Amino acid sequence: MCGIVGVIGRQDATQVLLGGLEKLEYRGYDSAGLYVNDQHGHDHLIRRVGRISALEAAVMPDIQGVMGIGHTRWATNGRPTEANAHPQVSSDERFYLVHNGVITNAQALADRFLQNVTLASDTDTEVLVQLVAVFARQGLDTPAAFKKALSLCEGSYACCLVDRLDPLHLYAAKAKSPLLIGQGDGFYVVASDALAMLDRTDQFLELEDGEVVTLTADSCRIETLAGQVQHRTPITVALDAADLDLGPYPYYMLKEIDEQPAVLRRLVSRYVEADSRIAVDPALLTALAAADRLYIVAAGTSYHAGLVGKPLFEQLAQVPTEVHLASEFGYHQPLLAEKPFFIFLSQSGETADSRQVLVNVKRQGFPSLTITNVATSTLAREADFALDLCAGPEIAVASTKAYTAQIAVEALLAQALGQQRGVPAAQAFDVAHQLSLAATAQEAILAEKPTVHALAGELFGDTRDAFFIGRGADYAVSLEAALKLKEISYVQAEGFAAGELKHGTIALITQGTPVVAFITDPATAAHTRSNAQEVEARGGRVLRIAAASLATPDDELVVQDVPSLLTPLVTIVVGQLLAYFTSLDRGYDVDRPRNLAKSVTVE
Ligand code: G6P
Repeated sequence: MCGIVGVIGRQDATQVLLGGLEKLEYRGYDSAGLYVNDQHGHDHLIRRVGRISALEAAVMPDIQGVMGIGHTRWATNGRPTEANAHPQVSSDERFYLVHNGVITNAQALADRFLQNVTLASDTDTEVLVQLVAVFARQGLDTPAAFKKALSLCEGSYACCLVDRLDPLHLYAAKAKSPLLIGQGDGFYVVASDALAMLDRTDQFLELEDGEVVTLTADSCRIETLAGQVQHRTPITVALDAADLDLGPYPYYMLKEIDEQPAVLRRLVSRYVEADSRIAVDPALLTALAAADRLYIVAAGTSYHAGLVGKPLFEQLAQVPTEVHLASEFGYHQPLLAEKPFFIFLSQSGETADSRQVLVNVKRQGFPSLTITNVATSTLAREADFALDLCAGPEIAVASTKAYTAQIAVEALLAQALGQQRGVPAAQAFDVAHQLSLAATAQEAILAEKPTVHALAGELFGDTRDAFFIGRGADYAVSLEAALKLKEISYVQAEGFAAGELKHGTIALITQGTPVVAFITDPATAAHTRSNAQEVEARGGRVLRIAAASLATPDDELVVQDVPSLLTPLVTIVVGQLLAYFTSLDRGYDVDRPRNLAKSVTVE
């Protein structure tokens, strides 16, 4: 999704902006641009379609500045063209603006205020920058013109504005989309997320919706749209910039797949006390224990982690649990229990669909928890409680270690809640031990990469479509394994309940159709095996992945035993590797698949 950077007070502003944009690449984008000003009358606007490298190539050595703004654009309004790339510029070439979000009433604003302006792009962003220029021409100073324009906007925005007539100031504002201000020694930076500027500073000021910031090299003034000045203390973002290094890996996705056992162990040491109690805020447990139903709300891979969480909460804590897609829940809220508790799962903590639900349930007065990998994110800040995934930055667009960390945190929380409620199953479930077993089982699969690579080549080398089947937790993992394959190798893949295949979808099985069957649950193993045979009887090529205690000679991959509630922690590693090697062999950019964004901040 679009990424924003800005800087004021650095002689190397161009390099700060380009470095920041590179670090935002992982969010997903299809064009990029920057504007720099040297505060001595020289300025430059450069925009390119495609990769940051194309932008870098266009930035000649003489293009230097002391302040400026930069942007990676993931097209929403208008195709990815140079004209639609940001910074957008007003017709009088006085104002330059980068923007993340969607201004939903842009057309109405253009009709009302911009009849005499010829728009040069298809973007809502241009409408905003042209509005600023119109109001400035009517006599408002720049902060007033900016605030007036913003107060007319509906929808979402994080944006950064430059007035080229006054390059000693940089302006930023936020509503719904994420934006942070970084504070340095004699300079300020602006960024969509802290990762972008972590090599410049670790001191960040968080902005609230509806705030506008005026920056100089050594001052920061935050105020509301109504002009009320706000005081903010910087927070230290404790991320290790070295976490961003690829090291010997060709892609972040492989690095992040490999990090999963370490993340599970880190979670155990972070959340499990010496006496085996789970270290979470007692107020959180009290609030959870008061609920008669849990509602897990999430999107994409996080939704799939939620599906794995449902039986954990139902069996270990004995609380009925529903799992909902945020984008559906937001506008079709089901009939709720009397005392609902909402759990938001989100790797980024910024997903607009999830945030929309959070805002709604807060308005209704219901308690909420966000489980996220970004402690400073919007969802973490706005929920009543937050739990950290401790997975370290996840850079590859396709989520891997955040998914397994989400399942592990759900297991830890379910056991804590079960202990609190005195559920015998929770007392008996030694979650720390089980997660350690899962970490070891993950390592065993990671040691089999050559085998998985060969299987990926045979099954998915030139296929157009594929199926993943299983029951219970194996069904949940089938959905995630199929999503991984779709995301990075563009194979039409479907995760399917093994028993449901015969009720229609089996019509799609022809000679050689690849089908991956997950078999880890003793209660359903025989049934899933029958379903696999039904596929083979119709010519399908079945790869069986079974738990050691259930394995037969037909099984080409065997994973170590862990309790059936936690098998997705292990089996998904096979799914992730199958997707990774398929994408690699097809020559795709594994970390940056087409059309996708890491952090989806529009609904
Ligand atoms: C995007 C990403 C997915 C992710 C989903 C939810 O679509 O491409 O990988 O699963 O958003 O993101 P979240 O940050 O809320 O987990």
